[in-house]
Amino acid sequence: MSKSVIVTGGAGYIGSHACKALRAAGYEPVTFDNLSTGWEDAVKFGPFEKGDLLDRARLDEVFAKYQPVAVMHFAAFSQVGESMKDPGKYWHNNVIGSLTLIEAAVAAGCPNFVFSSTCATYGDQDNVVLDEASVQLPINSYGASKRAIEDILENFGAAYGLNHVIFRYFNVAGGDPEAEVGEFHQPETHLIPLMLDAISGKRDALTIFGTDYDTPDGTCIRDYVHVCDLVDAHVLGLKWLEEGRGSRVFNLGTGKGFSVREVIDHSRAVTNKDVPYVEGDRRPGDCTKLVSGSERAIHELGWTPDRSNLAQMIGDAWKWHQTGHYDK
Ligand code: UFG
Repeated sequence: MSKSVIVTGGAGYIGSHACKALRAAGYEPVTFDNLSTGWEDAVKFGPFEKGDLLDRARLDEVFAKYQPVAVMHFAAFSQVGESMKDPGKYWHNNVIGSLTLIEAAVAAGCPNFVFSSTCATYGDQDNVVLDEASVQLPINSYGASKRAIEDILENFGAAYGLNHVIFRYFNVAGGDPEAEVGEFHQPETHLIPLMLDAISGKRDALTIFGTDYDTPDGTCIRDYVHVCDLVDAHVLGLKWLEEGRGSRVFNLGTGKGFSVREVIDHSRAVTNKDVPYVEGDRRPGDCTKLVSGSERAIHELGWTPDRSNLAQMIGDAWKWHQTGHYDK
């Protein structure tokens, strides 16, 4: 019988891709999701247990039913802009919800925990390539909530021996090349899906949020990583924990940054269509430049992010976009 892994947020964008990768690696991914932002039809690779992270009794029930070897914790609110307007939503759901989950994992004797953190925990550090030892100074509530969860894991690791791998993601993009699952948020806030909508006429022109940043073309720079490469790292992280190699933090990015204008140029090239856009004001909470130092995951986990180039990420996202799943 395959080993179970509880995947919180398994009905969401990254979680559903993680379920596919776990299934391919021989695990049984058990999706735990309250469907507040996820989609039940994205749960295709293992059982679905509807539930809320704040519901400890429901969590206990699911841990008892599956006796998982690990938790992969993706469920969270993740919009930087919203987190600036409604910080309580982020502290309550992300932090208290995660604390409840971590306590349930410890009580159930689940030994391994893989956590989805973010480069937003580093904040805005000019002209720095951010590695895992960089100081964490988040400038938005989303990043602050994720940093707090990292602290909880460190404390619970020390007190109860909960082994954990923390992944700090840079900008996740693209989709399953077979288009079984893909990116779909409601509302959508991310650059690449919004751009594909503008290209296909499903939305008005894309707005570039700020053209006066201190970057070569004035727009923000981000490090984009393919979602399939990202979830592969999670499977490697799970194996790392199962081999007893101890708790560790890894950045997941490519070390290469692209500006918003460069992403627009690549989208035009990949889709062979014009990208309608207008130039607008800065979005509160946005950092100027976030680029990863990614050597640790490559050298220690043996991670090979070879799909993380803009052409493939935009191409795979475009393939998913054209399936029409997006119009549901
Ligand atoms: N952008 C635009 N117009 C849009 C949407 C985005 O110009 O309509 C710009 C943003 O200002 C930013 C870049 O495109 O410079 C990427 O924006 P996204 O919203 O796609 O991604 P973010 O960088 O804001 O956030 C993402 C994840 C977060 C994570 C963060 C870390 O959504 O969960 O990366 O950088 F924390």
